[in-house]
Amino acid sequence: MTASSPPVAMVTGPTSGIGQAYALRLAALGYDLVLVARDEDRLAALAHETQVRFGARAEVLPADLARPHERDRVVARLSEGVEFLVNNAGFGMTGEFWTLEPDALHNQLEVNVSAVVELTRAALPTMVHAAKGTVVNVASTAGLIPGRGSTYSASKSYVVSFSEGLAGALAGTGVRVQALCPGFVRTEFHRRAGIDMASLPRPLWLSVDEVVAGSLRDLERDRVISVPGMQYKAIVAVAGLIPRSLAARLNRGLFNARGRT
Ligand SMILES: NC(=O)c1ccc[n+]([C@@H]2O[C@H](COP(=O)([O-])OP(=O)(O)OC[C@H]3O[C@@H](n4cnc5c(N)ncnc54)[C@H](OP(=O)(O)O)[C@@H]3O)[C@@H](O)[C@H]2O)c1
Repeated sequence: MTASSPPVAMVTGPTSGIGQAYALRLAALGYDLVLVARDEDRLAALAHETQVRFGARAEVLPADLARPHERDRVVARLSEGVEFLVNNAGFGMTGEFWTLEPDALHNQLEVNVSAVVELTRAALPTMVHAAKGTVVNVASTAGLIPGRGSTYSASKSYVVSFSEGLAGALAGTGVRVQALCPGFVRTEFHRRAGIDMASLPRPLWLSVDEVVAGSLRDLERDRVISVPGMQYKAIVAVAGLIPRSLAARLNRGLFNARGRT
């Protein structure tokens, strides 16, 4: 990268939802992009859109992040240096833990946890060396409030705890890390997971743009945990004030906890 070339951001899972909104926002802010997901056509369409709308250069890097050998290509690109990394790709599943194929559970762990750790590990050396950089790890309120979902919530708790610990280690280096913890967001997430959300009250839905704006605002404020939306800030605050067992019971009671993995 020359002194005058734009900074580069990598976004995983930008073919829909939060990742797509994050990629478009970063392009609008002047970043060039590296776009990582499985659907090559949608990656190419997004690269074209960011080029046309914002003049951003976007590299398309197709990879299934559940597969270690495909992650290696992403790791190799990160070690060349990026200034902003959004570890966004992730998924939930319908079905009880004890009925799902072990392979499916393993893939979820690979995408939601292993990829986040490996990609962050690959991005940090050049960031720390440059004393500049940002890693946003997309977790969930499910990682903050217990009681609903098993492996999905556990994977997001890992991401929260990992990001908090890492933020401590990175203090004073000029590199920021954030665990972005949205509540329910209108994306393809629930349809892909086969989760029926018809009964969710409208005020609990967030838009992808609210989530991205909240994340960027909290980065400016140096907040490691970002919870976009007043309704979710209130829910998370209350959950933090009451005993964990009560928070789990309430979460289970308010939102169907069966069949979520
Ligand atoms: N929607 C919500 O209510 C909500 C709430 C809290 C947190 N989150 C988190 O937000 C993040 C983004 O989800 P979303 O809501 O935007 O869902 P989404 O619309 O379903 O987008 C998921 C993205 O992840 C990518 N992805 C999934 N599996 C992948 C794999 N094996 N390899 C590479 N990329 C993969 C998908 O791309 P391809 O299919 O093209 O690979 C897609 O771009 C996830 O980590 C999710 O857990 C969502």
